Parts: sequence; C-alpha cells; structure tokens
Amino acid sequence: MSKALATEPRTRRVFAIISHPDAGKTTLTENMLLASGAIHQAGKVAARGEARRTQSDWMKIEQERGISVSSSVMTFEHKGLTFNLLDTPGHEDFSEDTYRTLTAADCAVMVLDVAKGIEPQTLKLFEVCRLRDIPIITFINKLDREGVDPFDLIAEIEDKLALDVVPMQWPAASGRRFRGIADLRTNQFLAFAKQDSGEDHHWTPMDGNSIGQTFDDDALLEEFQMEAELAREYPDFNEQSFREGHMTPVYFGSALRKFGVLELIDALAEFAPMPQAEPAVKAGQDVEIKPTDKEVSGFVFKVQANMDLNHRDRVAFYRMVSGEFKRGMKLKTADGKGLSVHNPVMFFAQDRELAQEAYAGDVIGIPNHGVLRVGDSLSESGKIKFAGIPNFAPEILRRARLEDPLKAKHLRKALESLAEEGVTQLFKPNFGADMIVGAVGSLQIDVMRERIKTEYGLGVQFESPPFQTARWVTSDDPAKLKAFVDKNMMNMAEDIDGDPVFLAKSAWDIGYAQEKNPHLRFLTTKERR
Ligand code: G4P
Repeated sequence: MSKALATEPRTRRVFAIISHPDAGKTTLTENMLLASGAIHQAGKVAARGEARRTQSDWMKIEQERGISVSSSVMTFEHKGLTFNLLDTPGHEDFSEDTYRTLTAADCAVMVLDVAKGIEPQTLKLFEVCRLRDIPIITFINKLDREGVDPFDLIAEIEDKLALDVVPMQWPAASGRRFRGIADLRTNQFLAFAKQDSGEDHHWTPMDGNSIGQTFDDDALLEEFQMEAELAREYPDFNEQSFREGHMTPVYFGSALRKFGVLELIDALAEFAPMPQAEPAVKAGQDVEIKPTDKEVSGFVFKVQANMDLNHRDRVAFYRMVSGEFKRGMKLKTADGKGLSVHNPVMFFAQDRELAQEAYAGDVIGIPNHGVLRVGDSLSESGKIKFAGIPNFAPEILRRARLEDPLKAKHLRKALESLAEEGVTQLFKPNFGADMIVGAVGSLQIDVMRERIKTEYGLGVQFESPPFQTARWVTSDDPAKLKAFVDKNMMNMAEDIDGDPVFLAKSAWDIGYAQEKNPHLRFLTTKERR
C-alpha cells in the first residue's frame, strides 16, 4: 500500500449541516469557511493561484435562478484535516435531494435557533440521519438573541429526538445579557466580544479575576456559575454512543457574530469520524470496502446537468469510498458503463479546480455526457456495488402538456434528462402518450418548468392527471406481477429504469389493490440496484 493511501483517508471528514430554514445554516457555512481561512471575506473566495477562477459560472446560474437548487460541496482545511461540507438545500421541497446528499455524509451538524428549538424540518432531517445512524453534533445558534432556557432546549432534544444530550459548553444567558460560553471540559470561559471579530479568541480560566470584569453584574455571574454547575450533572460524553448516533454533544454560539464557530470546527475535528468501511456487494458476495483498499470505488449521490449551457454536460458528484484515484483513470459502473475521468473537479469554497488525485472521503465532480446517474457505483473493476440511493414515491403528480405538440421528442428528452438528474421523477404510462412527472414538493415542479424553458427552450403546461399517488410494484412471483400489470393497464406506468409503477386515484385505492393482491408489494421508496 502506498504511504498516501494509508494516511490520506485518515485526514478526511465529510459532513453536512441540517436545519430548519432560517436557523442560520447559510450564515454558519459561510463563517466556517471564513474561520478556517478558506475564504477571506463573506461571499468572496480566496484566490489560490491562477488555476482557480474567483467566481464560478455555475454559481452565477444558481444566483440567476434565485434559489440554490443544488447540494454542492465545499472543501476547507483546518488543523491538518480536510473537511468536505456537503450543502443540503434547506427548502422542504428539496428533501429528496437532501436525503441523497446525507447518504454521502459521515457526520451532521444540527443547527437549532435558540429561540425556536426543534422545528418541523429539523425533525424530518434528523429522521433521515437516524435511518443511517449518522452521528450528530448540535449547534445552538443565535445566542445574541433572546432564547429559550438551555435546560429546556436540551430537554426538548432529548424528548423529541430520543437522543442522549451532553452539553460540552454552557452559555452565559442570551440576547442582551449574553456574556459568552464556558467550556465545561476545560473550565475556560470565552467572552462574547460585542464587535464582530472572529480574531479575538481569549479563553480565560473560569475561576480567574477576568471573568468578574466580563460579567460586570454579580447576580448574572452567580446565576451563570450555578447553571454551569448543574450542567455538569449531564452524563459524560461517550464517543461510541455518539458514533452510533445515540448521543449528541451540544455547542452554543452565534453564526452571525462568528462566535463559537471555530470551536464548532474544532469539535468536528475532534469527533467527526474519518471515512469508514462501507458495505457493498462485489461479484455477488457481501463485502466491506475499506478506505485503504487499493481499488478505487465510490458512488454518485448527485448529478447536476447543464451547469454550463454551452456544453450540455452533466457533473456527477462522486463520493470516494476507497483507493487512490489519479486523474485520467478509467472507471466503470456496476452495469458495465465505462468512462475515463480526465477532468475531475474539486470544490474549494465556491471555487473549482482539477483534482490530480483523490482518496476515500473526497468528493469529486465528474463531467460526463449522461453516463452517470444518481446511485451509480463506480469502481476500477466495475464489480463493486454499494447500497442504492432511494427514490421516494411522489406526493405530486403532473401531466406534461406541450405548447407546441411537434416538439414531443424534445420534451421527452428534457424530462428524461431531468429525471436522471433527480430533479423530478418521470413515469411513462403504459397506455397513451402522456408523460407524468412526479415530485415530492411543488417547488421541484417550478424548477423543472423553469429549466425546461431556459435550458431546452420549450413551453410546457403541467396539468393535474387523473391520478394522485404512485407506488412501485414488485413481487417475488413474476407471473403474479405480470397478471396485475396486464389487468390494470390503464393505471400502470414505467419509471426511467423501466420498473412498473401503479398510479392510483387515492391512498384508499392502493390499500384496496394491496388487499386484493397480497403477493404484491406496493412500495413508497425504491432503491436503484
Ligand atoms: P438558513 O440558511 O438556515 O435559512 O439561514 P440563514 O443563514 O440564511 O439565516 C437566516 C437569518 O438568520 C438571517 O437573517 C441571518 O442573518 C440570521 N442569523 C443567522 N445566524 C444568526 C445569529 O447567530 N444571530 C442572529 N441574530 N441572526 C442570525 P435575515 O434577516 O433573514 O437575513 P439577512 O438580511 O440578515 O441576510
């Protein structure tokens, strides 16, 4: 094994931030990049040589769209570690995209607004993390504003998320009375500087003289010391319990005031797990692929098309699981499609540069002409297959109607392309020429309409079809499945993989079909195999 293959994966950390909209994810992301030195000014990117462009064209497209529709990756370095932050869209309508992105993360930071605690989207995203037992670090944000008593917040986390909670720090009040945070392990205090300065970093002993000056209010100091004493009663932090997703350490701060952000990065450096072995199937056998295995392997968790309108290229975001990737290498999907990766892209803050080599825990963008799809495993031998990434049964179905019927072929191509990218799902009814589009949230439909117009120049109307819901149908008995498909021709469709989908008027219809056909399974999620 080369030295780099043995050591590089140990220095990678892949994480995502989950939060309810407005809790401060964007602000925290930006200030993490600032605190780590990846960017020097909010919204700007540090130039690191000629090879990098300062502003990416791709970002411009996103800005013009007015909404960040992609989960991109941002890389920064801190204390000799390389962090890959996978950005998950906060809007509820993009939860499918978020689910996929979380399959590529090894750790999550859960951001809570100190005044609001656990909100609906926090809960939803947390449940996705729990499906994979992703370890979670909690960051309670906006301490510069009046908030809920931290003891109550901790009780709420314990209660709603069924997690063991360990405060690693304790805040001295909040809002106008906010004075700073104590590190409960080292007994040091970090005073909250009123001016926005990320540089001022003076931890002082809790029992020293300076703490009295910080407080200038004896009653407040007494209250804080009493609370901090009580906070020590929580159980000790247990790394294994955290790794298994049962325990969350809690940190406090203000992303906007850049306060507590560096400490959060330190916490990630200390606790976020390095890339681990991943279960897979290799040539029919269940195996574990280790980060230090020689063969390059990984999976695609996101595809973004038309980043550059002049070249109808797609970029597949590939999470490496093992091996030593070199630029120009030839990789194969598990279903035998091969491609040479000449222009792999790495993402530094908002900037891109060509990757010469990559290791487990790295995320590289692979430009391709539609070969790669979300959920594809990609390895040197083409024999490694990681567990699929789920598709979710759509909650919204729409029939696509062209303004110019002569463009039907173009529309089909556009819808297929967007479905392959995972923007929306596409169902082709077995009967008739309609194309039915499915989405988990209505914003997905808006983005699709906009993209069909700008990227393909097609005017499309979306109408309500006579169906409201869809389920994938499977059975261990192919004859029974075929009989069902034949009998329900008017309600059957195929998804982009050619798998059968039952389109129903209501959930009641699905229940009825299930009752009548006990040998069939009507599924709300599907994993591509
Ligand atoms: P999101 O990505 O989770 O949706 O949240 P975002 O960072 O956009 O933050 C939402 C709002 O909360 C923003 O205010 C932001 O400035 C504010 N915010 C984030 N962190 C803190 C904090 O630590 N303290 C305080 N007081 N506010 C914070 P906005 O008014 O919606 O936008 P803007 O006009 O300030 O940009």
